[in-house]
Amino acid sequence: MDIRFDNQVAIVTGAGGGLGRSHALALAERGCKVVINDLGGSVEGNGSSASAAEKVVSEIEAAGGQAIANFADVTNEGQVAEMVEAALDTWGRVDILVNNAGILRDKSFGKMTLEDFRKVIDVHLVGSAACSMAAWPLMREQGYGRILFTSSPSGLFGIYGQANYGAAKSGMIGLMNALHLEGAKHNIRTNLLAPSAKTRMTEDLGIPAQMLDLMTPKSISAAALFLVSQDAPSRAIVSCTAGGYAQVHIGESKGIWLNENNQTPENLHKNWKQISDNQPLDFHSASMNSTTKFLAMAAKGQK
Ligand code: NAI
Repeated sequence: MDIRFDNQVAIVTGAGGGLGRSHALALAERGCKVVINDLGGSVEGNGSSASAAEKVVSEIEAAGGQAIANFADVTNEGQVAEMVEAALDTWGRVDILVNNAGILRDKSFGKMTLEDFRKVIDVHLVGSAACSMAAWPLMREQGYGRILFTSSPSGLFGIYGQANYGAAKSGMIGLMNALHLEGAKHNIRTNLLAPSAKTRMTEDLGIPAQMLDLMTPKSISAAALFLVSQDAPSRAIVSCTAGGYAQVHIGESKGIWLNENNQTPENLHKNWKQISDNQPLDFHSASMNSTTKFLAMAAKGQK
């Protein structure tokens, strides 16, 4: 079965280069009309330029596809609203939103300024929320939507020197979970990608060239396209690099129950092995399921 996007419209943020460009080209190749958003700044998020987005539009048009350029800063609510309007004016709908725009301001926490922390949260987390918020009413009305968040292994597992970036990227998990629950009845599915790939963001990290060459943006776009397709799962966290693909699950240990007299820090210390035992884990489809599990343990323990 071929995965196609004919008659669909996608917005890809940060699509002027790297992963976003690759996703946009792949979507257009499979029939999607694409808004190529990019502010065109540096990796650190300084400056702006129209040329990055315009170049990708030209590439898509040269290959026979349809695309328009957009230069909105994803953190600017007004510009984001205009971006969605531009998609509507041109093609009448928005089926897919790929939240991909991002910057880096790496520093160890002791040297990081709050300004660098805020800026990174703003672009990745608030920017993803702003774009999703602008597309949300349309997706609800049309009873169809696919939203992809671009997180990172840094947000899932942590990277030294990326307190700001890691916090922004893991914040997207909470955002995705809530939108998954709220969007389900409107056929809006939300997923999250945690990629590693060769782009301008990673070329200076000292990864050996031979390995970096395996980490193609194309390999990431395969997962991105699946996660925004008609038959996409919802609320999946997919990590991928160099052609390897896996789903990341957030699980909770079985845990223990302590009666009122025993709810002390000493008993947590004493039982830590069992509390932290990660075999097997419970995977909850909503936070209430965790609460219910413990309430059931408490009810049983009190009998
Ligand atoms: P990139 O720097 O080539 O692409 C990011 C794009 O976002 C740039 O074209 C930039 O101009 C644009 N952008 C930045 N701030 C913007 C804003 N406020 N509004 C609109 N556009 C803006 O880097 P890459 O690697 O393609 O990154 C794409 C996404 O993937 C980012 O969210 C990044 O954090 C994420 N990512 C990348 C990894 C990698 O290994 N390359 C690893 C994990 C996550």
